[in-house]
Amino acid sequence: MYKESIEGTKVYEVNEPQLNLFSFMEENNIKDKCLISSKSTRVDFESIGNNTLLGNGNCTNFMKFIKTSTVDLILTDPPYNLGNFMHKRNTNLVKMRKNQFAYAGWDNLEQEEWEKEMDVFFHESNRVLKKGGTLLIFMSLIKIETIIKLASKHKFYYKTTGIWHKTNPMPRNMNIHFVNSTEAWVYFINDDTSGTFNNEGKLVHDFIETSLTTAKEKKLGKHPTQKPISLMSHFIKHLSNETDVVLDPFMGSGTTGVCSRKMNRKFIGVELDNIYYELSKNRMLDE
Ligand SMILES: C[S@@+](CC[C@H](N)C(=O)[O-])C[C@H]1O[C@@H](n2cnc3c(N)ncnc32)[C@H](O)[C@@H]1O
Repeated sequence: MYKESIEGTKVYEVNEPQLNLFSFMEENNIKDKCLISSKSTRVDFESIGNNTLLGNGNCTNFMKFIKTSTVDLILTDPPYNLGNFMHKRNTNLVKMRKNQFAYAGWDNLEQEEWEKEMDVFFHESNRVLKKGGTLLIFMSLIKIETIIKLASKHKFYYKTTGIWHKTNPMPRNMNIHFVNSTEAWVYFINDDTSGTFNNEGKLVHDFIETSLTTAKEKKLGKHPTQKPISLMSHFIKHLSNETDVVLDPFMGSGTTGVCSRKMNRKFIGVELDNIYYELSKNRMLDE
């Protein structure tokens, strides 16, 4: 299994197409940075300490590496695929739009292609999550029906659609229409009707309000859709327990990972873009 050391980093090569990654690390006493490379799927997970594994590439390849029924919570914010929709509208805010997600590059697949990718994501999510595990996925309101249809196909039980309200949104076009200040999240249970819900006897609304991500949380670099720590912590607290495994296959700047580590959960994160991958890693190393 142990193959070689490259510039001080231990490399383990494994044959299993699916691996219980944290058990593997425990068995091999891996506590520091290492690479776990899969021969069959040709992907490398990089460890940070003994509770975090990160992958740089397409999440569907990395998810295939994760053993069936080993994840407790998937908390994620995938591309909403609104890029083409926004481009076609051709508004006059060309300059401003360049800083928006519509120009981020990951958000402009054809609808059919996006649905196919999300279908694979739900298939793998159903497989890696434990029965009764939770999936909470951020989504644009206009795509929710599609998401519920796809998830239901893969044995996800639909629970709730909730709202995140941003108290200080960008005042774009404020004199001609309602300022966009909300995003939706959709909550599912895998192959069961209820899962972990830590409400401590208190009523928890399907609505959460925070400010936009602060400059302090962006001190190591910028991501156009970085979620605030207070938002992601809210879901981790209510939907998982300490030492649980949390997965974010579209981790962006790594907010889910930063929160999971602070809250004593194990974390697996994947990001396609190399710059955002490095940003995620640096944020987790900076804690
Ligand atoms: C909406 S952002 C996530 C932002 C994140 N929640 C945060 O707080 O920073 C979606 C991310 O998914 C990444 N992405 C898009 N397609 C992907 C894929 N197939 N596999 C892995 N990551 C992907 C994009 O590069 C982008 O950084």
